[in-house]
Amino acid sequence: MLKVSNVSKNFGAVEVLRDISFSFAGETSVVITGPSGSGKSTLLHIIGTLESPSGGQVEINNTDPFTLSEPELARYRNAVIGFVFQDHHLLPQYSVLENVLVPTFAFEQKPDATQRAHELLKRVGLTHRTSHRPGELSGGERQRVAIARALINQPRILLCDEPTGNLDTATSETIADLLFELHRVEQNMLIVVTHNLALVSRFQQHLQLLDGTLPKVRNEMEGG
Ligand SMILES: Nc1ncnc2c1ncn2[C@@H]1O[C@H](COP(=O)(O)OP(=O)(O)OP(=O)(O)O)[C@@H](O)[C@H]1O
Ligand SMILES: [Mg+2]
Repeated sequence: MLKVSNVSKNFGAVEVLRDISFSFAGETSVVITGPSGSGKSTLLHIIGTLESPSGGQVEINNTDPFTLSEPELARYRNAVIGFVFQDHHLLPQYSVLENVLVPTFAFEQKPDATQRAHELLKRVGLTHRTSHRPGELSGGERQRVAIARALINQPRILLCDEPTGNLDTATSETIADLLFELHRVEQNMLIVVTHNLALVSRFQQHLQLLDGTLPKVRNEMEGG
């Protein structure tokens, strides 16, 4: 369960988000659209607990993550949230397999982590690339590694910031297909920021940001 209540965000005197409220439950898919600078990434970072709101409240599974201490929050984020960034953020010196395993290094590792990494790499179609470095992959392949890495700890919420932003149309389509397929298998909440309006109709929920606000909200709370 994700509940965002009257969230605002200021950077100094600049008000980037204002009075944002919505609530989603369970296995749903949400797309966030809006013009450049409307606050999409900022909102995603707040949901992902990477950035704290200036006002309002975020609840994930009945916990306000921002009341946790810094080490507790790091552990919470690692367990609950998966993040796919626009420009993949893979570590160049590590292999594909090691990159997928990075989120399991921070805290005690589950015994089957390596097995799960191999399974995820199979699902994203990269079995033949496990020992390559990111520099030896195409853009679409790197994004697929980033998706596998984001899913390694079985997060309940998968956040993607323009995951297909740097890819051609055909590759974007393939990555979107992959995200939805994994969303079904993992039964997580999928939240995607995109400029690709062709993708919007594939999502169950749509948040349209305009100048840091949500002028109209179509979501479960309003039954629409
Ligand atoms: N750390 C920061 N310090 C100051 N201003 C910031 C910071 N992060 C974002 N902003 C400002 O907040 C506004 C919203 O930024 P954000 O990155 O959330 O937009 P966006 O909707 O993701 O845009 P895009 O589609 O271009 O990625 C912008 O005007 C930006 O300059
Ligand atoms: Mg952005």
